[in-house]
Amino acid sequence: MTFKTYIVEHLDEELGPWSELEYITIARESQETGSKFFLSSLHPQFKVPEALAAIPSFTAERRGVEELYADKKSRVCLLDPQGKSDLAPEDADNFDVFLFGGILGDDPPRDRTSELRAKGFEGRRLGPVQMTTDTAVRVTRLVVEGKTPLKDIPYVDFPELKFNEYESTEMPFRYVKTKDGNPIMPEPPTMSKLPPPIKINPPLINSANPWASNYKDLEKLYLCPSTGAVTTRTATLLCFKHDDAIHRYTFFNPSTHQTSETTNPTHQQASQSPSQTASLNTLGYSPYPLIDYLKWIRKLTDTYPKPHPAKPFIISVTGDVAEMIDAYSIIAGYLPDLVSVGQVYMEINLSCPNIPNNPPPAYSKAALVNYLRYINLAIRSDNNKDLPRLPFGIKTPPYTHFSEYTELISALEEAGDQLSFISCTNTLGSCLVLSPDSSPVLPGNGIGGMAGAALHPLALGNVATIRRMLDESEGLRHVIIIGIGGVEDEKGYRRMRAAGAGVVGVGTALGWKGVEVFRGIEEGLKGEW
Ligand SMILES: Cc1cc2nc3c(=O)[nH]c(=O)nc-3n(C[C@H](O)[C@H](O)[C@H](O)COP(=O)(O)O)c2cc1C
Repeated sequence: MTFKTYIVEHLDEELGPWSELEYITIARESQETGSKFFLSSLHPQFKVPEALAAIPSFTAERRGVEELYADKKSRVCLLDPQGKSDLAPEDADNFDVFLFGGILGDDPPRDRTSELRAKGFEGRRLGPVQMTTDTAVRVTRLVVEGKTPLKDIPYVDFPELKFNEYESTEMPFRYVKTKDGNPIMPEPPTMSKLPPPIKINPPLINSANPWASNYKDLEKLYLCPSTGAVTTRTATLLCFKHDDAIHRYTFFNPSTHQTSETTNPTHQQASQSPSQTASLNTLGYSPYPLIDYLKWIRKLTDTYPKPHPAKPFIISVTGDVAEMIDAYSIIAGYLPDLVSVGQVYMEINLSCPNIPNNPPPAYSKAALVNYLRYINLAIRSDNNKDLPRLPFGIKTPPYTHFSEYTELISALEEAGDQLSFISCTNTLGSCLVLSPDSSPVLPGNGIGGMAGAALHPLALGNVATIRRMLDESEGLRHVIIIGIGGVEDEKGYRRMRAAGAGVVGVGTALGWKGVEVFRGIEEGLKGEW
């Protein structure tokens, strides 16, 4: 078979971002099948995007197709809704070049095709429903290179593109359908630049938890000299409906299952029982909305002299994809001065096990990719172009099976190139602590997320496995792991660092020891961070 050439006549001086993605997709697919892709009749001012120019199958041509193929016109097939027959596999023998006149995908349609028709190029039809340019080339390729008759190509017409649970749009075109029933569309480009790193010194912090809920909590954590950053409790854009009757926590002894006398004990109460080193909770998120945390951070940094070294804030947020895009611009827009000097990071909590009917998205590759893709788009969005770049990370649940790790890493390889950090891990869901009379200690069926000493080995295993897999993946080595789970003293801190954590976080032990836990760790380390 002779290799085919696909030509799109591009008469516009400009190139929109969507057309750019389509052309890159055509060039990549041409590269894969050994064919050529030309843009012809290019305007003198037309700038070829670097990503397109870099693909060897692609050629940019100022000349029009009439000039390029003046002596071989009969070998050029014009894809034309008014062509005399449908494109067929035998056309591979009749033509070397397939020409797209520019009506495909244009809105309103432009009639470059009729000009080319008038010049005598022979036409073939692709069917009655309008296709995007990359789809039209793909279909042509399937027919002439893949020898698939037009009628056997599976299509999706006017698919719905879902942005989140509430927002979607209908795409007014026909697409080729994949085996799993999805339309083939251009992939948004991955960004080549590494994301900004997080800088936390000393590498010890509190994790997102109820002891980082309000201004007073944050003030204590900000003024604690033994930590290198403050994480805020996970907030939603609007207030999470906290219900004290449902949302509770307890500390328990992981050997005897003896629990604190009351649920939601203060650390003064809890520290009376130092063997209750594990925790179980049915909490959701903070009762305060994100904006309160931003105001408190502003107040803290305005009230107190700047610590040395600087002490960043990790703002933990959660919600659907659209809300996380909003959270990105709200944080960067409210604290641009702090963001621009690397003192604010965003942590997207994708792993709370306690939200009914809402499984943690970080257990699903598709959900993870969706979040990461749209945050990448938010970073590049025109709306955010005047805002400083906000480093972001995700909070993962404790994984227990190798297939879960491969889902995570393949999601990151697909869309996580702008991720600065992973906070690993959240609590382990599906856990139950019973009181001596066998009734659940926490409300309802008592099942919630477990953490503290009982989680430590699993957290170490998660950190070690994810670190190794990140290191094995060239595009992900830069991602820093904040290791969290069962650290309560300097020995736990050292184990976490040995497993691969760049920074160590403390949750449960902050709950029962108070901020003193950090001083204890620092003293135990004797300067060997
Ligand atoms: C009572 C309680 C509430 C928590 N709330 C949150 C939260 O709002 N957001 C979050 O990302 N993690 C939350 N966590 C998880 C912790 O931040 C931490 O990842 C986990 O507990 C493991 O660390 P640990 O063993 O030191 O507690 C919570 C943990 C506990 C014990």
